[in-house]
Amino acid sequence: MKALILAGGRGTRLRPLTHTTAKQLIPVANKPIICFVLEQICAAGIKDIGIIISPETGESIKKVVGDGSRWEAKVTYIFQEEPGGLAHAVKTARDFLEDSPFLMFLGDNLIQGGIEELVSEFKGGNCDAIIQLKKVKDPRQFGVAVLGPDNQVLQLVEKPKEPPSDLALVGIYLFSPAVHAAIERIKPSWRGELEITDAIQQMVSSGGRVQARTLEGWWMDTGKKDDILEANRVVLDEYACYEVNGQVDETSQVGWAG
Ligand code: G1P
Repeated sequence: MKALILAGGRGTRLRPLTHTTAKQLIPVANKPIICFVLEQICAAGIKDIGIIISPETGESIKKVVGDGSRWEAKVTYIFQEEPGGLAHAVKTARDFLEDSPFLMFLGDNLIQGGIEELVSEFKGGNCDAIIQLKKVKDPRQFGVAVLGPDNQVLQLVEKPKEPPSDLALVGIYLFSPAVHAAIERIKPSWRGELEITDAIQQMVSSGGRVQARTLEGWWMDTGKKDDILEANRVVLDEYACYEVNGQVDETSQVGWAG
């Protein structure tokens, strides 16, 4: 199994921060987001990792990630000239992916609890794709899924004005090589991009087995400014530890000021 991290794009929604850095390199709790992504992928046992990079920020990503040896992984960089959409990125990575099943992870997304379970379910089953979902308040800014019995995906729509459910697509997907034929059949969306959401819908329409898992823990799509602040808060809450050197009486509490 391989992994594909998407770290291209121009990060326009994060300007001015992304005038000087890639959005995947913005630190959360003092560590670039893409490093959390690499840790989660390696913890799931995937060590053959392709990273999609853009002309604007590719060099700075390479500088931070290197050859992947820090995670005992092998990293291959794949150059995407134009931000043509997530499905276009998969197309660009076709030579790297060969006919291997793969995990696709958007390099500016973080989820609680990692992806080990998701990956092992995919490996143990016979799905064409598994998508990760999360209930959100405003699904209009995401891909949105409608589920049938047994977590089967019935319908997917990208950034709908009237969302058919509150289940948003998290930027983490598992694919069999069947996705490549589906991508060949889609056309660019209204925003001029080849949407992975449309490719998955194409798999569903042609009778493919597409399953969903709904995340209970937190999800941060750090591609948006407010989420960066929230991600820092959430990650610090979870990972930061402090030591008490002394005595705390019963009426006192030690913790972070909120
Ligand atoms: C992309 C996907 C969308 C998904 C989102 C998650 O959106 O197209 O389906 O819900 O990532 O971050 P974009 O970031 O390109 O707007």
